[in-house]
Amino acid sequence: MTIEQKYIERHPNSARLYERARKVLPSGVTHDSRYMTPFPIYAERAAGAHKWDADGHEIIDFVMGHGALMLGHNFPSVIEAAQAQMALGTHLGASTLKEIEWAEEVTKIVPSAEVVRFTSSGTEATLMALRLARTYTGKPGVIKFDRHFHGWHDYVVGNSKYSTGAPAGVPQATLDSVSGVPLDMNEVRQTVSDRSDVGAIIVESAGASSGQLPVPRGFLAELQAFCRGEGIVFIMDEVVTGFRWAPGGVQEVEGLKPDLTTLAKILAGGFPGGAVAGRREVMEHLQFGNKGAKIGHPGTFNANPLSAAAGTAALREIADGTHQKRANELSAQLRSGMNGVMCELGLPGFVYGQASEFRIVVAGTQVPEAQDYDPRDLPWSLLEQGMKGETARMLQLAMTNHGAHLFGAGGLVSSVHSEDDIARTVEAWRNSLVEMRAEQFV
Ligand SMILES: Cc1ncc(COP(=O)(O)O)c(C=O)c1O
Repeated sequence: MTIEQKYIERHPNSARLYERARKVLPSGVTHDSRYMTPFPIYAERAAGAHKWDADGHEIIDFVMGHGALMLGHNFPSVIEAAQAQMALGTHLGASTLKEIEWAEEVTKIVPSAEVVRFTSSGTEATLMALRLARTYTGKPGVIKFDRHFHGWHDYVVGNSKYSTGAPAGVPQATLDSVSGVPLDMNEVRQTVSDRSDVGAIIVESAGASSGQLPVPRGFLAELQAFCRGEGIVFIMDEVVTGFRWAPGGVQEVEGLKPDLTTLAKILAGGFPGGAVAGRREVMEHLQFGNKGAKIGHPGTFNANPLSAAAGTAALREIADGTHQKRANELSAQLRSGMNGVMCELGLPGFVYGQASEFRIVVAGTQVPEAQDYDPRDLPWSLLEQGMKGETARMLQLAMTNHGAHLFGAGGLVSSVHSEDDIARTVEAWRNSLVEMRAEQFV
């Protein structure tokens, strides 16, 4: 039986749900990254590092709420906080103590956060950050980096991983206000001098696609210094890296103080939520009675009490760095173990990553050692190979068959994965590669 036949045979309920979904949801999905053929798996419940699909299989989860679940599924203190809040009301239509506590945690943990404005998602946070920067500087131009992902609003979908060619449905004037440049200070300087209207530079703190293509060492510090010199608002998008790379994100690790930081995912403890945090002087454009322009910012679910309660509990858990340390160690174990299997089987490719994420390349040059690789030490030409087409699809199907759910060609490790989860995933990886080799996908 082939990998795909086995997948179909093992997941009849997911197949049925997908047929039903396709009648009411475009392509049957609600997030582009879940689209896959022959069909995606449907999950019913989760606990800790595991989830159970609609066919009753227990799966080791490496999607981890798209990175929101640093503490795994249903972490006790987070769930208790959410349940306590649920009994008090899910939307109080008024200001709450919970939102103050949530903001206080953010300002304690994130080095550059003087004040905070909550949104409902990371996309809304990057939209708000750009508007704040444009208002503060009076300059509409924005620089973003090639393939850096900041959500799906009109200003950031050019040259991102989800756009092929010109993004459909976005007015040309909007696209023209944003220049996409490579991660290269000379290009940044040139663009700023060519278009004299640059008011903001936004960067994905781990590098394109949550670190697939990392930011070279020292680049962010140079970028921050350049922005300071030019009066450009420096925005670090820490939606993925915030609270994960360190409690205070990449800015804590690298000793940086961006003007604005965008946050989401771990911020809200597994519930919907995002935020812009930063320098008071820039954030003041949200303030009534501000001497400059005031940005309007309604939003029915801004700082909704459930997200605020769960988020505050999650941030209190992750504040001392213990969870990050544990997740990083497990992730390093997983990366080394997977590289060991590739060496053993003599297959080309490697597994790499920073902090508690991992990424898989099955192509190109074989890594000679069963070790962990920091992508900043590897040439981009290797990393750019990524995983494409049928190889990527087959890997996803095969790993699911063997009980591990990847997030694209990689995943995120939480602090509640166990050594046994890691060992079982390395075994799933071995079995998947053997089957893929037999079918000539690797
Ligand atoms: C770096 C980065 N910024 C922004 C976003 C958008 O966040 P959301 O999906 O909450 O809109 C994402 C989502 O994955 C992200 O990875």
